[in-house]
Amino acid sequence: MNREDFTILQQDPNLIYFDNSATTLKPKKVLEKITEYYNQYTANAHRGDYDNSLRVDEEYEKVREKVQKLIHNPSTKEIVFTSGATDSLNMVVFGFMRYHLCPGEEVLITKAEHASNVLPWMRLKEETQIEVNYIPLENHQVTIENVKKSITPQTRVISLAHVTNVLGDERPIQEIGKLCKERGIYLVVDGSQSVPHLPIDVQKLGIDFLAFSGHKMLGPTGVGVLYGREDLLEQLVPTRLGGGMNASFDSEGTVDYKSLPSRLEAGTPNIEGVLGMGAAIDYLLDVGLETIHQHEIELKKYAVERLSQIPNLELYNKDIENGMIAFNIQGVFSQDTAVYLNHYHICVRAGNHCAKILKEDLNIKNTCRISFYLYNTKEEIDELVRVLEKSEDIFKVVL
Ligand code: ALA
Repeated sequence: MNREDFTILQQDPNLIYFDNSATTLKPKKVLEKITEYYNQYTANAHRGDYDNSLRVDEEYEKVREKVQKLIHNPSTKEIVFTSGATDSLNMVVFGFMRYHLCPGEEVLITKAEHASNVLPWMRLKEETQIEVNYIPLENHQVTIENVKKSITPQTRVISLAHVTNVLGDERPIQEIGKLCKERGIYLVVDGSQSVPHLPIDVQKLGIDFLAFSGHKMLGPTGVGVLYGREDLLEQLVPTRLGGGMNASFDSEGTVDYKSLPSRLEAGTPNIEGVLGMGAAIDYLLDVGLETIHQHEIELKKYAVERLSQIPNLELYNKDIENGMIAFNIQGVFSQDTAVYLNHYHICVRAGNHCAKILKEDLNIKNTCRISFYLYNTKEEIDELVRVLEKSEDIFKVVL
């Protein structure tokens, strides 16, 4: 779908890019928007009174409206631009939860979370003596029954990836959101692997904070979003201070912060990143998130059907409906498989994918991961299968 929009695919017809959960390719429209900014109206944002700077302000603020259209939240004040999902989650933990959780209160996560939804909580635990506990997984997945069983009177936060980055399972966020509302629990969601691939409505899902990255949804690297319910963001203490976020300060240390969202965007922002992400959102909304989702599901079904016929290939998530495949070739280290595939210009990721405690549940340390996006095709899967079918050649190629 839309392959002509991606220069890299036109320039290198042999490239098979199956590592979209790590980062995606960028369409021409995104690159054009970035060069438009540099060629036509380079200026800082929110600091100038001349035409180019006012144009930057207008273009920059327009992107908040685009994000709002993407995730269906009520107000542009709730959209904070960050450097990516990691930054967004750190802001939630150290700017909000640090001031709202007491020693002994509990945060629930799972062993399938990405490092950026584990390590900040571990640090907060060290600093404030909160508890961090794990919702048990069933067949590696979150069930609403296990969420209910895990909640205790001390539970104040549930923090989960919407879609996980190793197996790609989608969590029942809407039901969890309902439980959280009934019990006064904050629901934090890492949308890195869902916002680029599925239609999202934060209000319907009952999400209090949502984090995601631009580069996993056709946008540039180094930019992302923190969505927070307005009443909660109002209480989020800025974790970075500097220019652009204060209205005034004096030599005694009296500081008057700006209103949302500027209060949470200290320093010169990543202007090219935000504008590029805006162009990426336009692109995704034009194609349609449901169309993208269905395309990925169809590719996965086709790939599973074909890969299942390779005798020594183990698939770990064939029944999960999404665009991700986790696999290994029996007796072959996953990284060797990735190096072998690279020999045929096929890009996959191998390893633990930053979800370093999932192995305790999965009993497998490393996997190869194929992750599809809108531009992938069945012909590319045919080529992957052709190459994997002669996997007895792996050690000839790798060694
Ligand atoms: N979190 C990214 C991945 O899963 C980098 O590959």
